[in-house]
Amino acid sequence: MTVTAEAATPGSANLRDSIPFQPHVIDESEARLLVLEERLPKIDGNFVGKSVVAMSQCEPADIELLFKETDIVYREEQAGEATENLKGKRVALEFFEDSTRTRFSSDAAAGGDGAHVIGFSSRAGTSGDGKHESDEDTVKNMDRYVHLHVIRHPEDGFVPERALDLQHPIINGGNGAGEHPSQAFLDGYTICKLLGQIEGKRFTFYGDMIKGRTGHSTAQLLAMMGAAELNFVAPIELQMPGRIIHIVEGYGTRTTVTDNIEEVIERTDALYRLRTQLERFAKAKRAAIASMVPMVTTQLLDKGPDGIQFLHPGPEDKLNPDYTPEVRRDRRYKVLFQAEMGLSVRRALMRLMLDRANVA
Ligand code: CP
Repeated sequence: MTVTAEAATPGSANLRDSIPFQPHVIDESEARLLVLEERLPKIDGNFVGKSVVAMSQCEPADIELLFKETDIVYREEQAGEATENLKGKRVALEFFEDSTRTRFSSDAAAGGDGAHVIGFSSRAGTSGDGKHESDEDTVKNMDRYVHLHVIRHPEDGFVPERALDLQHPIINGGNGAGEHPSQAFLDGYTICKLLGQIEGKRFTFYGDMIKGRTGHSTAQLLAMMGAAELNFVAPIELQMPGRIIHIVEGYGTRTTVTDNIEEVIERTDALYRLRTQLERFAKAKRAAIASMVPMVTTQLLDKGPDGIQFLHPGPEDKLNPDYTPEVRRDRRYKVLFQAEMGLSVRRALMRLMLDRANVA
């Protein structure tokens, strides 16, 4: 089945003359995902007991609620306060794909707030390895032991499907090339800390947006929270899916689609570089794809506004770096601060989902 969507409306104020407009074609797996997402509950001001899988579940008031609780968690962390809001709760971290930030910040968020944390970081050591239990059966059994799941899975549909058939809520820790909403929450919170607000600000996404799930979620969050402008910079093979551009423009955010970073760097309050997700491309394509996006340099950042900030969701592939060593030492490099915010945001999210928040 092939569905042609009228996404990425031509004619909006942008530089699409740089990259010829291509109608976005939604394939069968993407259509299936959209149908699943439609069935997910809206947050509607109340996170309790609801899985958080896709940004389409959220409205600005939900994000504001989460950020309010995050402010509390952040202050507690800064003050070194011991907290036990999640005491008596059990959280499972079920990672069928590698992770450093999402997994360990979730572990520190839950365990550091009194929850009991169990889980795995690959099938190895679970019955899904030598005994060939299905991933679905693995998490359905885990569901009987815990009150909340954080699940990462390489297939786009696995997490949304489980959100519809598990008894306990899930934080989507990344579903293939789909979404990564808790990354969007921490990106948005980081930007509020760095720039004061999202509303009216201009953001440039630079790198692999076709497979980069963090870009899909974060672009939606920024638009939802009133970003003035989102620029998507990549060669056409790595560009943002038209479906996401369509959603972003629906919030009234101006978009620019180009393969030339020089065209938009002056209009960038925060530059968000994305790793090329080589593991999600066919092996035969990887060599060509790997070298398509140049590294960010301090000279490039110098061309931006004075207050430009540099973000990256991580990880950076050291064999195919996204920025130079000088950027890592630059005052505008906020990547580790961004990672740090993951703990506060995820703890706040868990409190809201498990009805242990101070706000709400
Ligand atoms: N940003 C992110 O998802 O990083 P990890 O893959 O290390 O969790």
